[in-house]
Amino acid sequence: MSESAHELAAAAALATSPPAPPLRGGAATLLAEAIALVGDDLAAAERELAVLLHSEVAIIPELGGHLAFAGGKRFRPLLTLLCARAAGYAESHRITVAAVGELLHTATLLHDDVIDQGEFRRGRPSARLRWGNGLAVLTGDYCLARALQAVGRSGRIEAVRSMADAVTRMAEGEVAQLHGCGDDSLDRARYSMVIDRKTAALIEWCSSVAGLPERALLPSLSRFGSELGFAFQIADDVLDYQAAAETTGKEPGQDLRDGKMTLPLILACEADPRLHARVRQALRGGGPMSPATATGIVAAVLDSGAPARAAAIASGHAERAIAALSELPPSRARTALEQVALYVVRRSS
Ligand code: IPE
Ligand code: IPE
Ligand code: MG
Ligand code: MG
Repeated sequence: MSESAHELAAAAALATSPPAPPLRGGAATLLAEAIALVGDDLAAAERELAVLLHSEVAIIPELGGHLAFAGGKRFRPLLTLLCARAAGYAESHRITVAAVGELLHTATLLHDDVIDQGEFRRGRPSARLRWGNGLAVLTGDYCLARALQAVGRSGRIEAVRSMADAVTRMAEGEVAQLHGCGDDSLDRARYSMVIDRKTAALIEWCSSVAGLPERALLPSLSRFGSELGFAFQIADDVLDYQAAAETTGKEPGQDLRDGKMTLPLILACEADPRLHARVRQALRGGGPMSPATATGIVAAVLDSGAPARAAAIASGHAERAIAALSELPPSRARTALEQVALYVVRRSS
């Protein structure tokens, strides 16, 4: 079988994996309309993703597919395809960028679950739990390498350069976050620095379609993506406190148990020095936190109203993301992007 026939056969096999879970509630409706607008492009990006995850080393598509085809939201490909449409960029590279955005995301999740010792991802046992840390990390590295290969094959230097910059920032963010674990003095400024890099850098790259659309529109697309990235990560950090395991596929309070100071906890500690002292004590030593200690701190954070204040900060970022879109010509895709920004701060999973 030729390499491309082989890749297509593998793609077909992977595409038979279980579909995404049904979307729920009003927030989901916002996303469903946006998805419908670029449905054909999303399907093409999905096929491209399966091709990119293929390897003759069979464990790679097996492990990678276990995560990549387990029902993720496909938020990053959706952004790329809507932003390309809103910017009037119709070249086929948009599909590659969409697939690569999800592939880079897949790499970060594989690595993140090793670092965070995550046990569940998208409602399934994490890859590292099933295959071990080594194979999970190395398959993540393969995803990064394939992403570089795919963007390199496009022959567009601006796409390669912008991806290299984004991946560099993502790595910095993950290192800074891990280094700050267990440090109760981590404040809003350091938190912002981490989420700018670990999350917003990729969402910005996806939204700017790797820098390929008309130059005059790029600042607007980048600003949209960056603000949305902040909103997205803060909303995720709020969900970590507020959401039930059945909607996120994860246990509530995981960030605290990982020693991570995220915005809800930072705001709660700013407002209540006694809680801050309790958190400092709980993080001291860096060992596993007792379930009772973690449950007590999570309850105190919820009682403090800090998650709602963090959610309001996320909404401010979403509003600024929407404002950045005003420099793009009016279109159905631009309206859909506004809906996506609203979805980000209303989502429940
Ligand atoms: C999770 O991203 C990691 C963060 C940056 C918060 P998503 O919420 O997009 O995860 P999936 O792809 O839907 O599983
Ligand atoms: C986001 O951080 C992960 C990356 C940007 C790599 P989290 O650690 O908050 O993501 P979840 O909550 O595990 O999905
Ligand atoms: Mg994590
Ligand atoms: Mg999280």
